[in-house]
Amino acid sequence: MSTNNYYITTPIYYVNDVPHIGHAYTSVVADVLARFMRLSGKNVFFLTGTDEHGQKVEKSALKSQMAPQSFTDKMSASFRLLMQKLNVSNDDFIRTTEERHKRAAENFWQKLASSGDIYLGKYEGWYCVRDEAFYDESELIAGNLSPTGAPVEWVEEPSYFFALAKWQEKLLKFYEANPDFVRPRSRYNEVISFVKSGLADLSISRTSFEWGIKVPGSEKHVMYVWLDALTNYISALGYPDLNGDKYQQFWPANAHIIGKDILRFHAVYWPAFLMAAGLEPPQSIVAHGWWTNEGQKISKSVGNVIDPFKLAEELGIDAVRYFLIREVILGSDGNYSHNSVINRVNSELSNKIGNLMQRTLAFIYKNNNARIPFISQVQIEQAHELPMLTMAVALASKNFALMQEFKINEVLDNIIGLTEEANIFIYQQAPWHLKNTDPEKMLIVLYAILETLRYIAIMLQPFIPSSAEKMLDQLGIPATERNFSFLTKAHSIVLGASIAEPIAIFPRVE
Ligand code: MSP
Repeated sequence: MSTNNYYITTPIYYVNDVPHIGHAYTSVVADVLARFMRLSGKNVFFLTGTDEHGQKVEKSALKSQMAPQSFTDKMSASFRLLMQKLNVSNDDFIRTTEERHKRAAENFWQKLASSGDIYLGKYEGWYCVRDEAFYDESELIAGNLSPTGAPVEWVEEPSYFFALAKWQEKLLKFYEANPDFVRPRSRYNEVISFVKSGLADLSISRTSFEWGIKVPGSEKHVMYVWLDALTNYISALGYPDLNGDKYQQFWPANAHIIGKDILRFHAVYWPAFLMAAGLEPPQSIVAHGWWTNEGQKISKSVGNVIDPFKLAEELGIDAVRYFLIREVILGSDGNYSHNSVINRVNSELSNKIGNLMQRTLAFIYKNNNARIPFISQVQIEQAHELPMLTMAVALASKNFALMQEFKINEVLDNIIGLTEEANIFIYQQAPWHLKNTDPEKMLIVLYAILETLRYIAIMLQPFIPSSAEKMLDQLGIPATERNFSFLTKAHSIVLGASIAEPIAIFPRVE
C-alpha cells in the first residue's frame, strides 16, 4: 500500500430501524477525516453502508410484515439518504445483501475453513439479539441482561466455531507491536486486558433462523452476522481478488471509525479473522463515545431518539455537522442538548466566523471600492510578520500531524482559535480609524485579515463543506486553489479582485 492512499470506513449500519444521531455522528467523524485527507492530497477511499442480515433485522422485517429483502431495501435507502442529507462524501456504499459481498463473505469463510480455524460443534449459552452478541454468563447483569442492558436468551444449537482461543498470544503480540492500533489509549488498554483474561472460541453460525448468508456447503447454517458484517471492509475492495486495484491500493485500511460498543468485534475478532485468513489487520480502530440526550440514555422505549433529518432541516446541515464534532472530544461520551446546539451555532459559527467574514467584507465593499486591497510585495511581507498570519501559516502543517493522530477536535479548536485571534486583531487595528489616520496601513491590515480568512475557510472545508465553499466564493478564491497545498505563503487571495456585496453565511438560530 502506498502511503498516499487512505482508506477509511464507518461501521455498516443495522437496518432494523431508522437512522439516529449516533449513526449521524459516526458518519460525520469519518467524513471529516476523509475530506481532510483528500484536501491534503491523499487518494482516499471512504466506505459506508448497511448491515442487513441476522436475527435482529429478520425480526424487524417480520414485525413490519415485509419480506426481509424488501424491508432491507427500504431501510437501507434511508441510510443512503442520511449520507446525502449530511453531505457525507463516501466513495462507495456497501450492502451485505449485495452479490459482491456475499461472494466475498463465502470466500472468506472458505479461507478460514481451509486454514483449519473453523470446526463444527454445538453452542450452548446466552445470546442477545439486540446486540447480536454471545455472552458469557459472568458478563450478564442481574442474570438476564447483556452488559448493554438488553435481554438475553439461552441458545442451544449446532454451530460452527472459529478457533479464537488459539489466536490469543498472536493478538497480544500484534497489539504490543502496534501501540496505536486502538485509539484512544484507554480503549487499547481495555482490549488488551480483555484478551489477556482469556478468549473462548467463537460461535460463527446459527441454525435457528434463515436471514443470512448460507455457510458454504452447509445449507442449514447461516453465518453469524458479525463475521458476515466485518467482511464488508474487504468485499468493497473486490475481495477475494487480492490483485485487484482497490485491494492493492487500500488494504490494510488506515482507520475503521466505530462506536465504543462495537470495539471487541473490531479490535479482537476482526484482526484474528484476518490473520487466520492470511491477511493484514487494519492500521487503526478509532472508537468514539456515546451520545445521551439532555443527560439521558437514548432509547426508543424512552422515546428520546434524535432524528438527524429533522435536526438538519431545522438547523442546516453544517450547523449539525459542526455541533456533532465540536461538542465532544472524539473518544469521550457526549450529550446532546437543545441549548448547547443553539449556543454553538450562535456563539461560534455566527459570532466568531460569520461576523469576521461579514465585518471584513462589508468594510471592503464600502470603503475600498468593493476590491481586495492591491498591495506591494513589501507590504505583503509586512502583513506576514503579524502574529495572526504567522499563526495561520503554522496551523496548516500542525493540523495535518494532529489529524493523522485522529485529534479531530484539536484541529477544529485551532481553527476557532485563529478566528478568535482575527476578531481581536480587527478590533485592535480598527481599520475604520486607519481609513483616516493611515490608509496605507489600513490596506495591510485588511489584507492580513483576508488572508487569514482564506486560511480559515480552506481549513474549515472538511467540517462545514458548503459554508466553507460560500466563504471561499465570497473571498474570490478560485475553485482550483482550495486544497491544503494552497495553505502557504506562496499563495494568496487575489489582489485587487472585486467582491460582491457580502451575504451572511451563518444566520443566528433561536
Ligand atoms: N451493524 C453493526 C456494525 C457492523 S460494522 C462491521 C452496528 N450497527 S449499529 O447501527 O447498531 O451502530 C452503528 C454505529 O452507531 C456504531 O458505531 C455505534 O457506536 C453508533 N451508535 C449507535 N448509537 C449511538 C449513540 N447513542 N451515540 C453514539 N454512537 C452510537 O453496530
